[in-house]
Formats: sequence, structure tokens, C-alpha cells
Amino acid sequence: MVAYLDNNSTTRMADEVFQEVRKYQLEFYGNPNSPHGFGMKSWEAIEKARTKVAKILNTKNDEIFFTSCATESINIAIRGVVFRNLEKGGKIIISNVEHKAVLETVRSLSKFGFTVVGIPVDERCVFDLNALEKNLDDDVILVSLMHVNNEVGTVEPIEEAVRIIRERTKALIHIDGAQSIGKLHVDLGKLDVDLFSFSAHKFHGPKGMGVLFKRRGVVIETFMTGGGQEKNLRSGTQNVPGIVGTAVALELVASQMDEDHERMENLRTKLLNGLKELYDDLLLITPIENSVVNTLSVSFKGLNAGILMNLMSEMGVFFSTGSACSGRKKSHVLKAMGFDDETILGSVRLSLSRYTAEDEIDNALDRFNRALNLLRN
Ligand SMILES: Cc1ncc(COP(=O)(O)O)c(C=O)c1O
Repeated sequence: MVAYLDNNSTTRMADEVFQEVRKYQLEFYGNPNSPHGFGMKSWEAIEKARTKVAKILNTKNDEIFFTSCATESINIAIRGVVFRNLEKGGKIIISNVEHKAVLETVRSLSKFGFTVVGIPVDERCVFDLNALEKNLDDDVILVSLMHVNNEVGTVEPIEEAVRIIRERTKALIHIDGAQSIGKLHVDLGKLDVDLFSFSAHKFHGPKGMGVLFKRRGVVIETFMTGGGQEKNLRSGTQNVPGIVGTAVALELVASQMDEDHERMENLRTKLLNGLKELYDDLLLITPIENSVVNTLSVSFKGLNAGILMNLMSEMGVFFSTGSACSGRKKSHVLKAMGFDDETILGSVRLSLSRYTAEDEIDNALDRFNRALNLLRN
């Protein structure tokens, strides 16, 4: 039996999603942009899915755009704002714990003369809102912040940040919601942001599917030019099975979120308590009271988590060290939180999903026991 504890990297597709994806791969495979009846069927499926997604997130239909992943949505949003301001230039504010999809995108844009300012976080990975406030002035064209941190699970004070930004500037606000959709009840009708990105594979939807929310009236430049699909913001034949599957997945996780959370929270507590018993120097990194319930970041101080991960992987238990998406480099998130090298070297991220079974946690704890004994001897 394997224990898959890497759900912040990606999740298993839900059976309900797979059925729908299959249907639109094998039966209704028409191009949604073809004017004949078979194409219309696909077009209708896309619009039905858009309506579902918009309803769950409390947006208007025309504010939802389908893309290929969160990274693409983030690129469309950030580049779109920046290219709109190419002549004027200005300042972009992000946090120091953003995902590479944001960090590398803004870094690549600094050559156009834009200044990038990073906001620090505290030891819980929470944004320093005073620093944010101090950096807000008329030069700021964009603030891009994450909703939930992918490495440690911290839920960021987005509402408060948005209030401060709106009071002080006319900057557009983009939120990277790759780790919040499916884990928190997100109401984009109430959250006063301009752009919001996420991908479906983080909540049991298909891989290769992203969503971008762009508030009505917000104008950004487009760089994906071509046939003009997705209302001229993103050209390219739409991934109909993926889009349909995204809506089914979102519906599923949104409707069962509270029950799923209770189960995941109990399993996370069991995992944490079990690990504490196995390792005296275990250091808890995730701020439990201020985090999504599926994520547990801890450090086996004094150990090399990479070696532990490889050993556990051979035993069929899968998780990440530091950030899964940024390979083996030392986590910039844990550094920004103020942790020393020894803590970072021993850090692992265990992330659960609605499909994580209690058996998997028992199994993982048993294998941790074995691996830790091997490493101690
Ligand atoms: C916070 C955050 N943003 C963006 C991404 C990029 O998502 P994708 O790889 O689906 O484009 C991830 C993926 O781990 C993430 O965790």
C-alpha cells in the first residue's frame, strides 16, 4: 500500500471528473469554435461549465477565462497588466514567499524597467501588512499576492491587504489562488480583487487546466494571440474535456468542503502527534491555527530530509521536501520565515486530500518509524 502525502503538488482526479472528461474526449470531441451542431455541443459544454464555475465563485460568467494551468493564468494576469503600462513603467509589489510562477514572471519583466518590491513575512509566513502599506504609492501598477502558501499552508490576510491597497492606490490586484480554491470557501464577488488565478489539478480536476478570473471592466494586454477564443484574452482551441472536468471538480469539492475539512483536520492531527512521538526534536513549521487543514510542514531537525524522502519513497510513502515545484534548492519560503539552514534541511511538507485514508496515515507513520530508525543507526 502506498501513502500519497503530496497533494499540494497535485491530486488524484475524482471519478466523477474522469467520467465527464472521458465523455468529452471520446464522444463529444467537436471543436467548440466550429459552427456546426457537433461543435455547438462542445461550445455549450464550455459555457455550462463557465456558468457553474462562476456561480460557485460568485462571479459573472464573462469574468471567467479558461487557460492551461495556474502558471498560464498568472502570466496572462501579470504580463497583461505590465504590458498595458509599458510606456509609463512603475512598481510591482509581491510577497517574498510567492510561488515561482509569480517570482520568475515578475523577475523576467524587470528588464522593461519596472521595479519589483517584495514584502516580508513573519515566522508564521503571514505578510507584513505594515511593509505593504509603506510601499504603496502612485507608482504601483500591480500588487500580486498569494492566498495560501503552498509550502507551509498559511492562509494570508488577503481581505485586509486588499482594503489597504484600495485605500492607498489605484493599482490592480492579482491573487494567486492555486492553493486556496478547493480548500477555502472563496467568494470572488466579495473579495475586491481584479484578477485571480488557479489550476484544477490541485483539487481533483484534470491536469492542464487553469482558470483566470478577470473582473468586468479591467483591461489588460493580451499576448496569446490567434483565433481569439476565450474572449480575445487567450487564443487557442479550448480544452473542452478539461473545462468540463474543472467545473465538476470544483462543484464536488465546494459542496463537500466542510465534511472533508473535518476529516483532513483529524488526520493531520493524528499525523502530527504520531511524528512527535517518533522524533523528539520535531519542529512544527505550519501555523496550525492559521492554515489550510490539509498541509503539515515540519522539520526533522538534525536530519537531511532529502535522504528521508528517498528512503520513504522506496517504502511507498510520497511527500515533498521544501517546495515540490522548485526542485532541490533551499526553500525561499522557510528562509523568509526566518528558519536556519539546519531546520530547512530537515523540513518536509506532508499534504492530504479528501481521498487520504486513515490507513495511509497509519502506514506512513509506520514507515516513518522504520526510516527514522535506519537513519539513527
Ligand atoms: C501557490 C502556487 N501558485 C502557482 C502554482 C502553479 O500551478 P501550476 O503548476 O498548476 O501552473 C502552484 C503549484 O504548485 C502553487 O502552489
